[in-house]
Amino acid sequence: MITLLYNISNLAGIGSPLSPLKGGELARLDNIRNAWLAIEEGRILAFGEMSQLDRNALGEVKEVLDVEGGMVLPAWCDSHTHMVFAATRELEFIDKIRGLSYAEIAAKGGGILHSARRLNEASEEDLYQLAWGRLQQAMKLGTGALEIKSGYGLTVEGELKMLRVIRRLKEKAPIPIKATFLGAHAYPPPFKDDHEGYIRLIEAEMLPRIAADELADYIDVFCEDGFFSPEETERICRAGIRFGLKPKIHANQLNLSGGTQVGVKTQAVSVDHLETMDEAAIQALAASPTIGTMLPTAAFFLRMAYPPARRMIEAGAAMALASDYNPGSSPSFNMNLVVAMACIQMKMLPEEAINAATINGAFAMESAKEVGSIAIGKRANLIITQPMEHLALLPYSFGSNLISKVLINGQVV
Ligand code: NIG
Ligand code: FE
Repeated sequence: MITLLYNISNLAGIGSPLSPLKGGELARLDNIRNAWLAIEEGRILAFGEMSQLDRNALGEVKEVLDVEGGMVLPAWCDSHTHMVFAATRELEFIDKIRGLSYAEIAAKGGGILHSARRLNEASEEDLYQLAWGRLQQAMKLGTGALEIKSGYGLTVEGELKMLRVIRRLKEKAPIPIKATFLGAHAYPPPFKDDHEGYIRLIEAEMLPRIAADELADYIDVFCEDGFFSPEETERICRAGIRFGLKPKIHANQLNLSGGTQVGVKTQAVSVDHLETMDEAAIQALAASPTIGTMLPTAAFFLRMAYPPARRMIEAGAAMALASDYNPGSSPSFNMNLVVAMACIQMKMLPEEAINAATINGAFAMESAKEVGSIAIGKRANLIITQPMEHLALLPYSFGSNLISKVLINGQVV
């Protein structure tokens, strides 16, 4: 069955690059004005200019959708989330308003350890239902591919439980999902003074079981003062690699942790956060194929400086944008807001931000053959906006929802 979208003011994000967009390439968002697009079996069949639309040549069109002058973009590819968690943390939010820092809350046993206690108490079914509800909402906001991390278990059983929930989401959800094992998110209390013991638990018990059941695609480590040192991060990444998991790591969020360089050295798919970067870290990233993923809503929520996007783009790095959706530092999965903040606070051009949140996000989860741009054969995971002439209206109107429809595999969500 063929579905035809027509009267598209601007069909943007066309192309199928073979590698992530770097430096100046990010500002180029190929488009067709006054366009149509046809979908068959949930995938993009063809597209072109309205003036050249030949319906007879298309085959049997069963459904037509007049977009009425809206734009059509690839759906957002959110390559960094912690979507599986048991409970929100709004009381810590108040502690932060009263003056405690993220690190101070963590040191008191709040933060990640609080989420870990709640997760270990929760049933697998409840965790699945909660995450499923969040996933539906994220799709309505235009998210068409996701990465989800474990990391609130911090016990063998807790981590496996989270990863099984992610696997079930992968099987049931209509969008591509990638799973990341983040056992090294924080040292759990029994291992507070026994780092060696916890890392051995990851290497000897968690990773073999995860690999045996094929529960993860990537390995992640929170490389940060007070969490995992660069040496520990490298050791854990190399253990993951031995079990077939490529690294995708939390780096340079609160401190100049050395995480970016560890990511580059271990050929990480991405290094994420990057709020705290010096010239050495920027140059190391730019000279590598590793993607730098920025998470502006986390910086916003923690009242931190934003990642130096312009410096990293100008150095020639491949940059992506993601939500970091989690209960502690970014309780929002709204990628529209992520794109707006990248433009407003990080001075990314709308075209750069859209590329970073679509095709480069897809590369940051190795899903660019399936999603992330308008190309024949890719999934018809698309955002249709309200009528508009210029795509800058999207980030400009931050906080308003200008999406009129989201299609996932060609179906309206
Ligand atoms: O990406 N930085 C580490 N992990 C998460 C926050 C997790 C939490 O606070 O629960 C992040 O920001
Ligand atoms: Fe994160």
